[in-house]
Amino acid sequence: MLKSRTDRYGAIAVSIHWLSAILIFALLGSGFRAANAMDATKAGILRFHIPVAIIVLLLTAFRLVWWWRFDRKPLPVQGQPLWQERIARWVHVAFYIVIFGMVSSGVGMIILSGAGPTIFGSSGAALPNFADYPPRIPHGLGALLLIALLLFHAGAALYHQFIRGDGLLRRMWYGG
Ligand code: HEM
Repeated sequence: MLKSRTDRYGAIAVSIHWLSAILIFALLGSGFRAANAMDATKAGILRFHIPVAIIVLLLTAFRLVWWWRFDRKPLPVQGQPLWQERIARWVHVAFYIVIFGMVSSGVGMIILSGAGPTIFGSSGAALPNFADYPPRIPHGLGALLLIALLLFHAGAALYHQFIRGDGLLRRMWYGG
């Protein structure tokens, strides 16, 4: 079942969701490591960080097109208060905004600093100090906001699964 039903997500939405989650964890890990690394290691980490970010961007764009043109979200969980439904919707929108913001600020840092050839070439030249470029500030703040959203989002899913006992996590997995 590739498309979603009224009571659960389809295989395409489930795959995009969990693949994005894994890649975003990898981006947070590699991003903080890059920020704290010395130049030689930093370039290597960024050769991982940047392509993974581009994959997340493409997945997110594909996810938007998928929802817009091809699939419909399942109905909200039965018996959930309207305010919780609204917050959930806002958190999902915030994820899109923060992901696009992180990619734009990341690209901004690389363009303004001219670090692309140093990172992806073999010149071995010193990397710039990214803190000298304005997009570094939203990139750092966006990372913290993303972590807060992830904690809130995962906390809400666990609340549904284990406190309300409504089996919400099953909706975001294969089968059924
Ligand atoms: C969803 C996408 C992205 C996420 C979640 C992400 C995450 C992070 C995080 C958590 C940090 C460390 C922040 C800090 O210590 O305050 C970081 C640093 C960095 N990111 Fe990203 N990033 C993303 C996209 C990108 C893109 C597209 C680029 C470049 C084209 C990029 C380039 C960098 C660079 C150069 C640093 C190191 C800054 C430094 O050394 O101070 N990032 N990223």
